[in-house]
Amino acid sequence: MTTPTTPEKVSITPETVKDVSAPVAAPVAPTAPPPIVEFRNVTKIYDGGTVAIKDVSFRVDDLAGKGEFITILGPSGCGKSTVLRLIAGLTPQHPPTSGDVLVLGQNVAGPGQDRGMVFQDYTAFDNRTVLDNIAFGLECDGVGVAERYERAKETIEKVGLSAARDAHKYPHQLSGGMRQRVAIAGTLIMRPKIILMDEPFGALDPGTRYRMQDLLVSLWRELEATIFFVTHSIEEAVYLGDRTIIMSPGPGRILQQLEVPPPDRPAKAMQREPEFLQVVFSIRDTVEKLESSTKAGD
Ligand SMILES: Nc1ncnc2c1ncn2[C@@H]1O[C@H](COP(=O)(O)OP(=O)(O)OP(=O)(O)O)[C@@H](O)[C@H]1O
Ligand SMILES: [Mg+2]
Repeated sequence: MTTPTTPEKVSITPETVKDVSAPVAAPVAPTAPPPIVEFRNVTKIYDGGTVAIKDVSFRVDDLAGKGEFITILGPSGCGKSTVLRLIAGLTPQHPPTSGDVLVLGQNVAGPGQDRGMVFQDYTAFDNRTVLDNIAFGLECDGVGVAERYERAKETIEKVGLSAARDAHKYPHQLSGGMRQRVAIAGTLIMRPKIILMDEPFGALDPGTRYRMQDLLVSLWRELEATIFFVTHSIEEAVYLGDRTIIMSPGPGRILQQLEVPPPDRPAKAMQREPEFLQVVFSIRDTVEKLESSTKAGD
């Protein structure tokens, strides 16, 4: 096992996928800044007794001027949303049953502006325009109407919509891809250090999905935020991630953490390259092996 390192730009082959599953209690210099997110032996048991995640530990460092892109893969029901919502501080996932969920060294006490969440189902208020949906967080913060509209218009353009054409539309007048852009804009406008994305592109057609992946990569580079991105697509996890966390079937545990090639080419082109597909197939084999050895009780 190796400790996590900053991924270098590499040509992609299955050999470039490194196991970076960190030791649970990696020694840390006393002067080192706290990780941006750390789970220490976190278990969540819901009312009713479902053990959603068990003894989950990982750490993500606050990479200055970059931010790490973490993708999370795992079968349905393994606790991926539970992990994201624990970081977000949302109930009933928060608080954990045992263990510590830490953001910059502090136990998460509830939701906060340092963390923004984008859900799968394009959460938007149907009775609010695009502009008012995007400006909602600022409105809750008491930011004045002129400033919040100005910032919302800037953010609309950032996610590839047009302020002139789209700002006054209502969610039902938008396509799925456009609604997801609105949801992303509503998160970005708050400038969170940590962005939590729960299968945000799962319902999009393949072409729109590639475009949204490209958009997300460029926004991530600009924002320098740490992103946690849950997906069922190994291609998407490998393309977007610096690191991919593979979880076991429920109760969820971390099976492996892999350093994967960074997204340094457009999504559609890179995901068709034979070398990229080799990496995807090798991870698919790894997942199958890990899952069958977990089932066998190894
Ligand atoms: N509020 C809740 N109350 C009780 N059990 C819950 C609750 N939320 C989730 N669970 C259970 O916890 C386990 C993990 O759920 P979670 O939603 O985190 O899985 P997931 O990996 O996100 O699944 P999917 O890929 O289907 O979204 C599942 O068995 C689920 O039924
Ligand atoms: Mg989920």
